[in-house]
Amino acid sequence: MKLFFVSLGCDKNLVDSEKMLALLSRHSLEITEDEREAEIIIVNTCSFIQDAKQESIETILEMAQLKKEGKCRVLIATGCLAQRYAGELQKEIPEVDAVVGTSAYDEIVSVVESSLLGEKKCVLKSLDYLPDGLTDRLQTSAAYTSYLKIAEGCNKNCTYCIIPSLRGKYRSVPMEELLSEAETLALNGAKELILVAQETTVYGIDLYGEKRLPELLQKLCRIDGIEWIRLLYCYPEEITDKLLSVMKQEKKICHYLDLPIQHCNDEILRRMGRRTNKADLIEKIETIRRVLPDAALRTTLISGFPGETQKDHEECMEFVSRISFDRLGVFPYSPEEGTPAAEYGNPVPEKIKRQWADEIMEAEQEIIFRQNETMTGKKFQVIVDGYLPDEDIYVGRTYRDTPDIDGCVFFQAGYEILSGDFVTVMVTEARGYDLIGEICNEEEM
Ligand code: F3S
Repeated sequence: MKLFFVSLGCDKNLVDSEKMLALLSRHSLEITEDEREAEIIIVNTCSFIQDAKQESIETILEMAQLKKEGKCRVLIATGCLAQRYAGELQKEIPEVDAVVGTSAYDEIVSVVESSLLGEKKCVLKSLDYLPDGLTDRLQTSAAYTSYLKIAEGCNKNCTYCIIPSLRGKYRSVPMEELLSEAETLALNGAKELILVAQETTVYGIDLYGEKRLPELLQKLCRIDGIEWIRLLYCYPEEITDKLLSVMKQEKKICHYLDLPIQHCNDEILRRMGRRTNKADLIEKIETIRRVLPDAALRTTLISGFPGETQKDHEECMEFVSRISFDRLGVFPYSPEEGTPAAEYGNPVPEKIKRQWADEIMEAEQEIIFRQNETMTGKKFQVIVDGYLPDEDIYVGRTYRDTPDIDGCVFFQAGYEILSGDFVTVMVTEARGYDLIGEICNEEEM
């Protein structure tokens, strides 16, 4: 029987998708890339902001249409939208045979089986539950770069964020399970491991009574085959000296930190429920840059949080240029039903939110272009992501670039190299967000 699987949303959701696919592929299901020939269709959904919900609903409706037309016998919605709107989905889209919540994805095989027998199912487990022992993955993307989800849920309860009600409280995956999963990924060809969670920096606090990210990183560095380890979703206030010192000592850990700060104004941070302030943010960033002078810092911001004024926005613009983040993303605020911030007064008009987001991105663009100019003449270790045959050019990334969200390096080689290989490239030119370079021969390294 053929299965078509759509994974929407974030990299954390992608890991759940790959775990479900591993379970399903053991049950003689063949995975197809053509939805029209699938008898079973699963959509792993996102419900983070309005646009993400819209995309999930449209995808389910598209798949429901296929079910009406013929081949598809079973349509299942899993993940965050399914968790949040389980009843509504089954009521409004009768073609949906089953919904599976975020902590129940380990039930996917039995849900498929019962759906094939014509049963309608809704499986929502307690959000305190964490499926265990699922260390197998069926990777949907290139094996050399793999995400490792080190925890589920979040305890921060930022006032704008719906994720704690979709994913529950913070639950760390036991360290031995993560090591076993990472070893299997490495055996299957993983060279770059990207650690993800709603927040990676407090890893271990629930299980071991203390933050154990530094220890986890040290152990992951001992795994043969893993060459790069990258950390995403680090809360600045949780970054410790110990973490920075392990990042400095361990050669495999990329000097890259993703710090989702959302804003810098103290009053906005307070109303967002963030546990930091502008002075502490500046101090932490200065510490990071003192310990790791070559660190690439990424952040995300929200524009137009309720009550934000033009003056607050200008303060944020000033902060962005003062810090000179190496990478940055900004999202216009989207009120999420069920969150405290959705009840706040003083909404910012949609047009202004978008205008502020554009202004921040324009300011950041100048910073990135300027920084990229300073890369000319420097040599970087680059992981190869692909080859563009028409231009005879390879595409890769430095330690400063997370796949799909940051920039690339384009270079010619004169001989064949494979995706996932590491090479040394000297940057010869900056071109916008990207770099152009030349491969270095061994004697030039
Ligand atoms: Fe991720 Fe979207 Fe859920 S961002 S955690 S899939 S709401």
